[in-house]
Amino acid sequence: MREVFNFDDDNIMIVLVPAFSLQPGVFASVIEQDDNVQHSINCAAAPTRLDKDIGNNVDINMTLFKQLLSFSKDGQTFSLEDLAEHHHLRHDQSRAESPRWQFGNSDATAQYTILVGILGRNGRYGLQTLYVEDVRKFYLQEDLPDAYERRELP
Ligand SMILES: *[C@@H]1O[C@H](CO)[C@@H](O)[C@H](O)[C@H]1NC(C)=O
Repeated sequence: MREVFNFDDDNIMIVLVPAFSLQPGVFASVIEQDDNVQHSINCAAAPTRLDKDIGNNVDINMTLFKQLLSFSKDGQTFSLEDLAEHHHLRHDQSRAESPRWQFGNSDATAQYTILVGILGRNGRYGLQTLYVEDVRKFYLQEDLPDAYERRELP
């Protein structure tokens, strides 16, 4: 996380502490494959995954993914406002659908801030411009975009 994404320790804690608390010393490849860890670090109202109480919270849900893409107003980029609007929708959907709904500030941080922090690059909204093509590559091919550049500052 430091070498590829230049995450600082606070960010690493938010993302990985829930997983480490279940499996000390776990590596990223294990996180992806271990359902227990996956379920504990996937929080409610995720952009592209159903809540655990509703359905499959591990695999991408293409209905939710297309819904996310539809929040780009110009079809090519997302602004922070676009993402905030999408978050409000997912938040409300999740609250309405999940029988044991719970949501905290760190959940919202993990979901959208990290997406912009990793994939954001220069564009019409400055360095926080998120490109639809990058989001597609990240979610559908589980790969970094060709234009990806590690952040200079954590
Ligand atoms: C994807 O999410 C939609 C909306 O919640 C739901 O209707 C659909 O059943 C889900 N698809 C799968 C394969 O889980």
